[in-house]
Amino acid sequence: MKAYFLHALVENALGETIRLCSLRKHATGGSKITPRRMFMHDIAAQALRLFDPETAHRAALSGLKLGLGPRTRSDRWTRLKTKVAGLDLPNPIGLAAGFDKNCEAPDAMLAAGFGFVECGTVTPRPQEGNPRPRIFRLAPDRAVINRLGFNNEGLDAFVDRLDGRAHRGGVVGVNVGANKDSDDRIGDFVLCMGRVWRHASYVTANISSPNTPGLRRLQERGALEELLGRLREARSALVAAHGGRPLFLKVAPDLDESAIGTIAELVVRYELDALIVSNTTIERPEHLTADDREESGGLSGQPLFQISTRVLRLFAQALEGKLPLIGAGGVDSGATALAKIKAGASAVQLYSALVYEGPGLVARIAQELDALLGAEGFSGVGEAVGAETV
Ligand SMILES: Cc1cc2nc3c(=O)[nH]c(=O)nc-3n(C[C@H](O)[C@H](O)[C@H](O)COP(=O)(O)O)c2cc1C
Repeated sequence: MKAYFLHALVENALGETIRLCSLRKHATGGSKITPRRMFMHDIAAQALRLFDPETAHRAALSGLKLGLGPRTRSDRWTRLKTKVAGLDLPNPIGLAAGFDKNCEAPDAMLAAGFGFVECGTVTPRPQEGNPRPRIFRLAPDRAVINRLGFNNEGLDAFVDRLDGRAHRGGVVGVNVGANKDSDDRIGDFVLCMGRVWRHASYVTANISSPNTPGLRRLQERGALEELLGRLREARSALVAAHGGRPLFLKVAPDLDESAIGTIAELVVRYELDALIVSNTTIERPEHLTADDREESGGLSGQPLFQISTRVLRLFAQALEGKLPLIGAGGVDSGATALAKIKAGASAVQLYSALVYEGPGLVARIAQELDALLGAEGFSGVGEAVGAETV
């Protein structure tokens, strides 16, 4: 039985990998971006898909911590070097929050080629999250539904790891949130920001997870003003004590134009440094075909691309260049990264595509983005930002 299982695992992994390799060779015109070692990571990524999503994720993190991940210099594409909210990025492709909730492997992900990594969401106290199963792969739709509910080891463990890797450099941001049972959710954001400030490259306040009941209400005018006011006050003390850091806000894609206008107005008034658009959606587009499509939680991956890019463009129009945007939602190729950039994003983030392609994907996206920018006559990322905001 065990031998049969192993055989099936390897066969499936190889079959998938050969299919991917031939597709990729076609897509990149046979470029040299996929060396043999990368194929091994593809095999590993495909093999992990035979396990339930949480087991696969845990195994992937363990492998990354052991140094088994792919390695690509994140600054090898000079055209991709860019600056966002004062941060010098070797390339504009970031790891979105949620992959590394406890700050276990940011350096492995930077070594895989990401231009920046966002760890978290971390909450003040450790939290179990929702009962399992709570992550679902929608393979035919290249999507994921999750209702994890901010499962994490809490601030103490997170800060120990963040402080321990501070000497290594690289842009590592921290995404902060609130405990589900907190009496003072805004206080949780302030507390987390204060504890991670010294060694975070930037801090993101996440008010957009659909899996903590009521959290998204912080996007409404009154609550958002209170949150941003308290963060601004706490931040000025931190700046005086430890120096400045960019502060970002991460929003949902499920916003109408009036809510977008309100958020755009407030993030400028309260002097935030960038907006991340977006988190997962509670929408279920009709074209989904996977059996698990009606599971509750947030949907991400390919079906989120259009939804989140539309909202990104609306924010770009509302903000008129007053604040940079970071685009997340369905980025899985150079073309989708460039589409986000043209819609107004100065950088992008991704998570779900990793579930299907593994961490070798980041180098391929960077390579494709570099080639596309060159082919379209852009000398750098900055020139393409907002090229198609109308
Ligand atoms: C399994 C899973 C867990 C996530 N956890 C978080 C989280 O803790 N905090 C957060 O801000 N976003 C979280 N996200 C959302 C991602 O950061 C990202 O905004 C979203 O998935 C869209 O990008 P994608 O389509 O590339 O996945 C999570 C996404 C997934 C799939």
